[in-house]
Amino acid sequence: MAIRDILTAPDIRLKQKSKPVEGGVTDAHRALMDDMLETMYAAPGIGLAAIQIGEPLRIIVMDISRDGEDKAPRYFVNPEILWASEETAPYEEGCLSVPEIYDEIERPARVKLRYLNYHGAEIEEDAEGLFAVCIQHEMDHLEGVLFIDHLSRLKRENALRKLKKARKEAALA
Ligand code: NI
Repeated sequence: MAIRDILTAPDIRLKQKSKPVEGGVTDAHRALMDDMLETMYAAPGIGLAAIQIGEPLRIIVMDISRDGEDKAPRYFVNPEILWASEETAPYEEGCLSVPEIYDEIERPARVKLRYLNYHGAEIEEDAEGLFAVCIQHEMDHLEGVLFIDHLSRLKRENALRKLKKARKEAALA
């Protein structure tokens, strides 16, 4: 396992659409998922899409366990949303690729998912609460969409300006 560099906005690679994993989940995919998980824990974050470490594959890792609870890593290969509720819910989101920026995003409150797990088994599962927020946020990454893309243009430009300023300060420090 290795900690990899996380791409940050406005890196153009984050805008690309990730490709499905073909031919099942292999040891190479599991090695990638292991790296993704280690990178996510080190950041620290609760979700990471493969493109965030520069791999344009439809793979996501997540751990939404609370502080003090046992770690509960989850892996999603080729995830699809089969159904989304009409009811929406707001959540203040952040992203390892958009550091220091947080804003409220409204998404379907519940979704039904299909994906392959770490071992390549097909799973169907309902998600709600933070799980629903996180999987929809991460699946956006697979389409080249960042959470700030859901904000108004003004809010998005403010967020990117703040990000640029923070990066300049970090470079000077
Ligand atoms: Ni993100």
